[in-house]
Amino acid sequence: MMTKKTTLISALDLPELAQALAMVDRIGPQVEWYKVGKQLFTHYGPQVLQELKARKKKVFLDMKYHDIPNTVANAIRSGALIGGDIIDVHAFGGPAMLEAAAQAMKETGARVIAVTVLTSMDQAQLEAVGVHASPQEQVLRLAKLARQAGLSGVVCSALELPLLRKELGEEFLTVVPGIRPAGAAAGDQKRIMTPRQAQEAGADFIVVGRPILAAPDPAEAAAKILQELA
Ligand code: C5P
Repeated sequence: MMTKKTTLISALDLPELAQALAMVDRIGPQVEWYKVGKQLFTHYGPQVLQELKARKKKVFLDMKYHDIPNTVANAIRSGALIGGDIIDVHAFGGPAMLEAAAQAMKETGARVIAVTVLTSMDQAQLEAVGVHASPQEQVLRLAKLARQAGLSGVVCSALELPLLRKELGEEFLTVVPGIRPAGAAAGDQKRIMTPRQAQEAGADFIVVGRPILAAPDPAEAAAKILQELA
């Protein structure tokens, strides 16, 4: 079997823009994709993307939109306009919201993916909000809704990756956080895979934060991950 191309996205989970950009410059041209999340974006806004674009980077704008369909569709248009190459929404927003998101996506060059069940939600957390399915069943249900609506893919944990690959086919994008190179500290991540395992399980993108950001030499840490994926 041919192993697929798996692209590394480095999560820019740092509080200050200057610090984040110094990190990007330190990592250098080897990493093309960065994930910009709520912390940095809420403080600095579109400037974060402008700075990344000036460095020829691609951006996964991780805003996890969840609102009425019209609002989410417009947020995606705005996100694409400021340079988001991948933008995410919560699949729990429902079919109408996902269809509106897919429609907005088609007007832009961006890809829109869906978050299914947050990895912080276990059975008890789901029950508390009235979802009487197992996390696994709920993930699959929401991922299928996202695909039916015409979205590009899902964010999923390493644990769910094999099931989603099997059920949703090869074309549907999978973006997988919770990646730990052999020997790296797991931190608060529980469902982890190495870059190579994620690639073998069919990940299109892996999202790696602390194993790069907190490494003594972030460029070297990124290079090692890229070697594993080569
Ligand atoms: O530092 P670490 O590699 O754990 O960072 C992973 C990134 O992916 C973080 O930005 C985290 O918020 C995000 N993420 C995750 N698990 C999910 C969804 C997103 O770890 N289920």
